[in-house]
Amino acid sequence: MKSAIVTTPPGDLETPLLAVIVPAGTTVPASLAALDRATGGVMARAIAGGDFKGKRDETQLLYPAAGKIQRLLVVGIGKSADVTRTSLRRAAAVAAKRARVLGAKSFALLVAAEARGGVNARDWGQLAVEGAAHGAWIFTDLKQAGEEPRVEVEAVDVVVDAKDAKEAEAGRRIGAAIAAGARYTRHLQMLPGNVCTPTYLADQAVALGKKHGVKVTVLDLAAIKKEGMGALLAVAQGSAQEPRFITLEYQGGGDGGPVVLVGKGVTFDSGGISIKPAQSMEDMKYDMSGAAAVLGAFEALGTLKPKVNVIGVIPSTENLPSGTAIKPGDVVKSHLGKTIEIVNTDAEGRLILCDALSWARRYKPGAVLDAATLTGAVSIALGKEAIGLMGTDEALLGEVREAGERAGERCWPLPLWEEYRELVKSDIADVRNSGGRSAGTIAGGWFLREFVEGFPWAHLDIAGTAYTDSEGPHQVKGPTAIGVRLFTEFLLRRAGA
Ligand code: BES
Ligand code: MN
Ligand code: ZN
Repeated sequence: MKSAIVTTPPGDLETPLLAVIVPAGTTVPASLAALDRATGGVMARAIAGGDFKGKRDETQLLYPAAGKIQRLLVVGIGKSADVTRTSLRRAAAVAAKRARVLGAKSFALLVAAEARGGVNARDWGQLAVEGAAHGAWIFTDLKQAGEEPRVEVEAVDVVVDAKDAKEAEAGRRIGAAIAAGARYTRHLQMLPGNVCTPTYLADQAVALGKKHGVKVTVLDLAAIKKEGMGALLAVAQGSAQEPRFITLEYQGGGDGGPVVLVGKGVTFDSGGISIKPAQSMEDMKYDMSGAAAVLGAFEALGTLKPKVNVIGVIPSTENLPSGTAIKPGDVVKSHLGKTIEIVNTDAEGRLILCDALSWARRYKPGAVLDAATLTGAVSIALGKEAIGLMGTDEALLGEVREAGERAGERCWPLPLWEEYRELVKSDIADVRNSGGRSAGTIAGGWFLREFVEGFPWAHLDIAGTAYTDSEGPHQVKGPTAIGVRLFTEFLLRRAGA
């Protein structure tokens, strides 16, 4: 989606659609008085009549009787005092989703001063574009054209006061890069398992690297064997599709070891021999969402070029049952050397990630963050609202949580106390890959921790947040691109930007 900062006084705009974010109230906010006059008082009538109250997610389409604004969409954000960065981004998304449904190819977006909650012009520029792109997104690539004509919102003009233009433009640039990263990620997430295979994912990474001048290396089956990644190989051995191990190296400069982003790239998770029930198994195409988030963050990095070194690491495979698949009880040797008893072949994410964490040592990382759709249990604990966060370093965990708050991708900590280590102890091997039903998300975290040596590490369990199966006012059902915004915010802050 294209975006621009526009400083035309709202009343003078010529547009097929102007969306205005408005706080809850019973009168037109003072800052919109001129706009209301220019549009023949249509907002005042809707508000005074009680047809529009300005509640969060509320929208009302109005047809001005005067002026050059063809349609006016008022979008509620709730009480002025409760406005946050997240609610502004969401309101922009609600506006864009309505714009798409209305068939608008472009729209202008304005926030009433009373609905900006102290958020500065730079942040508003960023949030407006991030939100608009998120709300407008839809995937129709695999449908025939015809019945449902494909309508894309191609552009958004963010309307600001002339004095705010420079700051808003600085934010818009960041928002546009993050939006492009999120779009890239959502597309990959959405692709079905028969299209998005490990090889396809690797090809995409190579193309992304070419586009941005980022070095990408892909290990194929033979190279993965040579490297001794026995845990990744164990998961891959049941599938006709070959695994891939993908690394991306972005050199932005700056001191200290690089930030390593690791993403789980299971392109389809059937559970393997410990097969999943048929109900919603199709959603397991989303099991590469961590990998997609890493690639989306690189898409944003490639445009923003912050001064920080970043490595992306993506182990990718399918998890399928077959005559060559791993079996419950099998013991394999990991890249680090620890042996693993595979008690449940459906706990495959941690198997491929443990080899990636071991591999990451070679970069002497300043920090390692992994994102993985690791456990169904994280949705039982935290629902769809929070990423489950675990790790070894309090300062790093704090940094990740702050990035998540800024990004509107909130994290909530779960403990990796020593007592929980029992969950991954094995009678036959160094560790086992499942601790049963109790504390499932923590068991996943503890398993990974067994393979963390020599760097601060944070683990983000995104199984509850990577996709949604219900339509919201701000987004369609399907992939959310979770992680792209958090990773990018984290890296920008590390770069001092
Ligand atoms: N990919 C799944 C986790 C998942 C579940 C993601 C639901 C998104 C929605 C993961 O590989 C898995 O199967 N985890 C098991 C772990 C268990 C066998 C210890 C789980 O959550 O049941
Ligand atoms: Mn699984
Ligand atoms: Zn999985």
